[in-house]
Amino acid sequence: MKEPQLTGMDMERALVLDTVRITEQAAIAASRVAGKGDSDLVDQAGVDAMRRVLNELAIDGEIVIGEGERDEAPMLYIGEKVGMAGEANWQIDIAVDPVEGTGIAARMVNNAVAVIALAEKGGLFKAPDTYMEKLIVGPPAAGKVNLNWPIAANLQNIAMSLDRAVSDLTVTILDRPRHEALIKEVRDAGVRVKLVGDGDVIAALAAAVRGTNVHAVMGIGGAPEGVLAAAALKCLGGEIQGRFKPRNDEERKRLEAMGASESKVYTTEELAPGKSIVFSATGITDGDLLRGVKFFKDGARTHTISMGYKSRIVRFSDAVHLLAEGARVNIQV
Ligand code: FBP
Repeated sequence: MKEPQLTGMDMERALVLDTVRITEQAAIAASRVAGKGDSDLVDQAGVDAMRRVLNELAIDGEIVIGEGERDEAPMLYIGEKVGMAGEANWQIDIAVDPVEGTGIAARMVNNAVAVIALAEKGGLFKAPDTYMEKLIVGPPAAGKVNLNWPIAANLQNIAMSLDRAVSDLTVTILDRPRHEALIKEVRDAGVRVKLVGDGDVIAALAAAVRGTNVHAVMGIGGAPEGVLAAAALKCLGGEIQGRFKPRNDEERKRLEAMGASESKVYTTEELAPGKSIVFSATGITDGDLLRGVKFFKDGARTHTISMGYKSRIVRFSDAVHLLAEGARVNIQV
């Protein structure tokens, strides 16, 4: 008998709900210990929960973007195998950030999220843990900006694509001393700058979704976060352009060993070449796009954005998790 052919669409459909469960569980666990001023505690809680659910999935998975190299991190390290394999036995590459914004989660300020992206083998760029200069825009401006162009020209094009004045734009930039000149240049162009303490993945999503009042993300952030953002932006029709910015010779060597170039501008497609991609982000703390976890007597409520590239579905899901033993269903709208 002929083996049934499994398609990318099957993969996305089969995995999307489990993928949502992964970020929901990571967000609940991290949120339990958020606000205690301890970034490591929050991170460990998110990692443990994410790892537990990942290992329940019927996939043959490998972490390609994770919590560091094998000897640096005990869990979800790059190269770690996850999943139980199973009938479908999909070989899946996985990018994780169980707590994107550990510092903000520890202080319980806005926009900490649990994030994951899954794709078929080779579907996510194996970026080393270095920095990346990023230019991120939503669908209207996709294809109309270039990291090599002057900032003012990109801002003009973003404004034109959105049919608004440059002075009506807002650009998110990580609040770091390294961005002093960039912030000045964007402000001098007449654009408002939204400075954020952490979290350029959720900022990328916000730039690609209408109604958030953020129109682009600029500046240098983590390269692994750039791959996660690319996975989401590919599903949402937005764009990221990224150039690796190694901090030292050691990182430069790792970049070269991976065949990556320091001078090249990487596109969304190069960072997330997958033909099938599933992405999910669940709010840990309240944010621009997602509400944070809320605990109540019998459980917790989560808010998630999930999407599939091939299936072309973007879902916002609001879930009630009855965690307490014998919990009663008593849900409020
Ligand atoms: P963590 O999840 O490790 O806390 O990273 C948060 C973050 O703000 C990312 O969103 C961003 O890409 C990166 O850190 C920037 O790195 P740095 O804090 O070193 O400037």
